[in-house]
Amino acid sequence: MSDNTLLAGKVALVTGSGRGVGREMALMMARCGAKVIVNDLGGSGTGEGADKSPAQEVVDLIKSEGGEAAANFDSVADYKAATGMIEQAVDTFGRIDIVVNNAGILRDVIFHKMTEDDWDSVVNVHLKGSFNTSHAASTHFRKQQSGRYIHFTSTSGLIGNFGQANYSAAKLGIVGLSKSIALDMARFGVTSNCIGPFAWSRMTSSIPVKSDADKERVDRIKTMGAEKIAPVVVALASDEAADISGQIICVRRNEIVLMSQSRPITSMQRNEGWTPTTVLEHAFPGMRPRMYPLDRSQDVFNWDPV
Ligand code: NAI
Repeated sequence: MSDNTLLAGKVALVTGSGRGVGREMALMMARCGAKVIVNDLGGSGTGEGADKSPAQEVVDLIKSEGGEAAANFDSVADYKAATGMIEQAVDTFGRIDIVVNNAGILRDVIFHKMTEDDWDSVVNVHLKGSFNTSHAASTHFRKQQSGRYIHFTSTSGLIGNFGQANYSAAKLGIVGLSKSIALDMARFGVTSNCIGPFAWSRMTSSIPVKSDADKERVDRIKTMGAEKIAPVVVALASDEAADISGQIICVRRNEIVLMSQSRPITSMQRNEGWTPTTVLEHAFPGMRPRMYPLDRSQDVFNWDPV
């Protein structure tokens, strides 16, 4: 097995790969032999505007290293445009093997001040966008009896964070989407997994620094390079990872963390059934020791990146 040929003959779509984590994944995929559709709308961190240069620069860099790539400047939030990305892969490179749903924006704001537009914009790019590209590729994957989906979730959804109701809901929705695709498409030799990255990028550089604790957290994130995520994604995208599906894997600098998934942890029962009072007096006290605290991501991932 060799890194250089791990994805030989494969065609990948990497959304939002003009910058940050996506850029590093597109570059590594090309170095491992894949032909890459580099999609990036090139908008602002909150999703306004458009700029062709980030995606084009990544394509130029891949070509300068002897790889093959083509740029796509459309929004994943648009179903027709997402279908066009898959068509572009098939028209340009003859097939589609790997879909990486990485494109993302933030509209962070405390819940009671969140507007409908803040909600819709974030859910449309992350959750709907991941559905759009995945669905467009699904008929090709079924026909060829193979395919790889790698979706991007976040510990903001898996664990929690302030001011991110839209983002957390979308990112946890993506976990449900990924597991459902994994179940529905296993019979066609298709896998679907989620990555929860930690990386210094435009997205994390927007974290407000209002206290010493914020500064400490941001300094910690600065040490986590965006390039650290790509090896795990390339490995998942390869034929060698055919038996890995429905998983959630966090990558934090040099650590790769397999995350838990929801399972029952305790239960209470009364043969005569429950009333509201007995729920309060019996069930809740019995379960309270096993209930989760209101943790945020950094309360759980509270050690220095390794
Ligand atoms: P980034 O902001 O550096 O890159 C995201 C890219 O997506 C940008 O280049 C942007 O132009 C593009 N994009 C935005 N909306 C788009 C659309 N509608 N269509 C096509 N492209 C679009 O962000 P970063 O940090 O590289 O994030 C990558 C993924 O990882 C995102 O899904 C993010 O939510 C997730 N993530 C990142 C974390 C981090 O620590 N950086 C933490 C948890 C999750």
